[in-house]
Amino acid sequence: MMNDWAGLPAIYGDVLRRAMESLFRTFENFSEGTFIVDADARVVWINKRYAARFGFSDPQQAIGRDCEAVIPNSLMREVVHTGKPILLDIMETDREPLVVTRLPLKDDAGATVGAVGFALFDELKALTPLFSHYSRVQEELIATRQSLAQARRARYSFGSFVGTSAACLEVKRQARRAAQLESPVLLLGETGTGKELLAHAIHGGSARANQPLVTVNVAAIPDTLLEVEFFGAAPGAYTGVDRKGRVGKFELANGGTLFLDEIGDMPLPLQGKLLRVLQDKECEPLGSNRIVRADVRIIAATSADLPALVASGRFRADLFYRLNVLTIHAPPLRERASDIEALAYAMLEDLSTQTRGGSHFELQDDALRVLCSYGWPGNVRELRNTLERAVMLSDSERIDARTLAPFVGSAPSGKQRYNEPDAVVRAGAPTQPQALVSWSDAMAAFEKRFLSDALRANGGRVIDTANQIGMGRATLYKKIASYGIEV
Ligand SMILES: Nc1ncnc2c1ncn2[C@@H]1O[C@H](COP(=O)(O)OP(=O)(O)OP(=O)(O)O)[C@@H](O)[C@H]1O
Ligand SMILES: [Mg+2]
Repeated sequence: MMNDWAGLPAIYGDVLRRAMESLFRTFENFSEGTFIVDADARVVWINKRYAARFGFSDPQQAIGRDCEAVIPNSLMREVVHTGKPILLDIMETDREPLVVTRLPLKDDAGATVGAVGFALFDELKALTPLFSHYSRVQEELIATRQSLAQARRARYSFGSFVGTSAACLEVKRQARRAAQLESPVLLLGETGTGKELLAHAIHGGSARANQPLVTVNVAAIPDTLLEVEFFGAAPGAYTGVDRKGRVGKFELANGGTLFLDEIGDMPLPLQGKLLRVLQDKECEPLGSNRIVRADVRIIAATSADLPALVASGRFRADLFYRLNVLTIHAPPLRERASDIEALAYAMLEDLSTQTRGGSHFELQDDALRVLCSYGWPGNVRELRNTLERAVMLSDSERIDARTLAPFVGSAPSGKQRYNEPDAVVRAGAPTQPQALVSWSDAMAAFEKRFLSDALRANGGRVIDTANQIGMGRATLYKKIASYGIEV
């Protein structure tokens, strides 16, 4: 540097030298901390106040140490490596954040020999508006990340899957094994048999447990939006509400598990795209030239008869084979009646804490007989709903057959299939007035008929039907799927 002044009048050189010295002194005086490191980012000098802030009563104790050992979030190493200044930055500390400036120090040949850092503001009064904005944004970000992480954690573990029947133990054994592996998992079984619960448990028991579990319910999303939901969209790529663009679930699940619920409802064109993504492990958000690579483990579930859908050409055979690697069949409740008692007690305990602060419900023998002689077409979900209604309306903690009977449906136990789309309607049809059905079965039968009629009147167009009957589209899609209405 001295060389640069050689041709100047002596007085100019003096002014410049003074400028440099006083600049350093001014910064040193006004800053909360000053800090110099060598080319290896080791502390050469630190002022007393700054050293004290980081727990060194004597600045000498900090000399020669790595900068990060003295100031944990220091970026001085980056400055000496790159030779570039970081003119203005916010550095988090144990106390409030600091506004810092970091400059490289060069030798005559221009090589970086060290760096100097100034922490400019501590109380940050001068920057209060900027800082309150920064702090607010920071807090919001932390809160959002926490709630997202919470939402994306597995809600159930293997312990939540109640039952000790041979069929149940076998399912749990297979699911535990699946948790140890990386291949896709296919969960098959009637509605309410615990497929979602198993998906959560498998993710939660896998090496990916600390990464997100992202769910896409294929049946609940209109076909036109599914592609964006899966793969995302560039800003302005489509004319939906979301002009800002959207991150796809595939990308969101990176490192974790993507749970594709009701995969049997996936439209054929999207099945092809999904297959390609599973093979290539990359996708392209709609309207972008960006390739998204994602390491995602797939768990798919459906209550539909997937092999039958393949046979009838409604589900791609190649996608089926790709998913059908670790296949787990969740057994219907009627095939494991010995689990009903344990399930009922687990649910009653759960319900009593949720609804009746600590009551201890007890099932009388005759009530258990009622539960075991029913066929449970809605499986464990129906059992839970039935007990919930009984608990809400029962005056006593002792639940007997008489309390329970009005809430239990009329499907007989046995090994027939209950997922036939018409089972509920037939039970409640006026041609069979003698069949005693529960209120909920009758309502379900009515709802299914009502929705089928409305859909037929609208030529099968779901959106028009939803508008006409005043129901949300997503709700209507769900109901169509759960009643198995053909559109
Ligand atoms: N073995 C089980 N132990 C305890 N609870 C269970 C069990 N199986 C299912 N459940 C409960 O039953 C309800 C339905 O389960 P889940 O949603 O996993 O079923 P599903 O197979 O995904 O049904 P659908 O095909 O209708 O989506 C949930 O409340 C779940 O917690
Ligand atoms: Mg489910």
